[in-house]
Amino acid sequence: MSLIQDIKDQVKPLGKKIVLPEFTDARVLQATEMILKEGFCTPVLVGDEAKVQAAAKAEGVNIDGAVIINPATYARFDEAVDVFTKRRAKKGMTPEKATEILKKDCLFFGAMLVNIGEVDAMVAGSASPTANVLRAALQCVGTAPGLKTVSSAMFVFTDKKQYGDDGMLVFSDCGVIPNPSSEQLADIACSTVEKARRVVGMSDPRVSFLSFSTKGSASSPEVDKVVAAVDDLKGRNVDFKFDGELQLDASIEPSVAERKAPGSTVAGYANILIFPDLQAANIGYKLVQRFAGATALGPLIQGLAAPIHDLSRGCFASDIVDVCAIAAKEAK
Ligand code: ACO
Repeated sequence: MSLIQDIKDQVKPLGKKIVLPEFTDARVLQATEMILKEGFCTPVLVGDEAKVQAAAKAEGVNIDGAVIINPATYARFDEAVDVFTKRRAKKGMTPEKATEILKKDCLFFGAMLVNIGEVDAMVAGSASPTANVLRAALQCVGTAPGLKTVSSAMFVFTDKKQYGDDGMLVFSDCGVIPNPSSEQLADIACSTVEKARRVVGMSDPRVSFLSFSTKGSASSPEVDKVVAAVDDLKGRNVDFKFDGELQLDASIEPSVAERKAPGSTVAGYANILIFPDLQAANIGYKLVQRFAGATALGPLIQGLAAPIHDLSRGCFASDIVDVCAIAAKEAK
C-alpha cells in the first residue's frame, strides 16, 4: 500500500523505537528482520537475549541491530515497578505484585517501557487476545490528557471510488468498547477524526453516526442512544462535519441521502462511520472485507497517552511491519 510506504519514508529520519514484546511468535522475529532491512525504526524485543537469539536462529532470521531488553536484568526495572505501583495503587497494587507482573507478562512490561519513555510505542497481539493487549495499555499507559475513552479505528480501502474519500472510509469502534454510551460515541467520533487526520491526512472529515433509523424514521432506546451522541457532540464545538442518526445507505449514497436526509452536510458523502456498538462495527468491517474485497488496516487503537497497537492473531509478519510504521508516525 503506497500509504504505508509514504509513512515509512516520513518516519525513517525520526529513529523511533518500537517494542514488539512477543518474541516467541515467529512472525514477530520475521517482522523484526524486515523492519531492520527497511530501517524505518528500531525494533525492541523483550526476553532473555540468548533465548531470543536462539529463537531467531531456529527461525532462520537475522535480528542483528534489534535491541533486546531482558526484564530480569533491565537497569530501569525498579523504576518501572515504582511507576506501575503508583499508577495502580488505588486498585491494590503493591511493589511485590508489580514486580511479579512485569517479570512474567511481556505485554505489561512492554507497555511500561512505553510509559517510562524507554521506547516510543508498542505493537503486540499476534500471540495474545485483544483484551490482554488493551488491559496492559489501559493499566500501564492510560488515556491521553483530556480524553476519557480508548477506542479504535479501522481504515477500510475499497475499489468503490464513489464512496468516502476515493473509496477509503474509516469505521469505528471495531475493536474496543462493547456497548458504548452516547458520550463514548461522541468521544469515539472525535478520536477517529484525529486519527484520520494524522494517519491519512484526511482534510474534510464527514462523520455519520450510524443506526437502523434515519432522522427519526424509527424509534427505540438504541436509536435514542445515537441521537443523544449527536446532541452531545453539538455541545462540544468541534471543527468537523457530523450528522445522525443515519442509515448506512443514507450515509454514503447521495441519491438515498437526498430522499432520507435532505439538507444534511454529511449524508451521502460520509467518510467516517461511527457504529452504534462493537458487534455492529466488528461485523460490519468484516462483511466489507469478505464480500467487497476491501482491505482493512487496523483496528488502530486511539485515545491512549502513547501509541500501543493491537494485532490480529491471524496477522502476517508484513502486517506487523505496517502497524509499526503507523505507530512510529503517531509517536511524539
Ligand atoms: N477507555 C478508557 N478506559 C477504559 C476503557 C476504555 N475503552 N475500558 C476500560 N477502561 C478503564 C477501566 O475502567 C479501568 O479503570 P480503573 O482501573 O481506573 O478502574 C482501567 O481502564 C483498566 O481496565 P480493566 O479493568 O483492566 O479492563 P476492563 O475489564 O474494563 O476491559 C477491555 C477493558 C479489555 C478493553 C474490554 O472492554 C474488552 O475486552 N473489550 C473488547 C475487546 C475485544 O475483544 N475486541 C475484539 C475485537 S478485535 C478484532 O476483531 C479486530
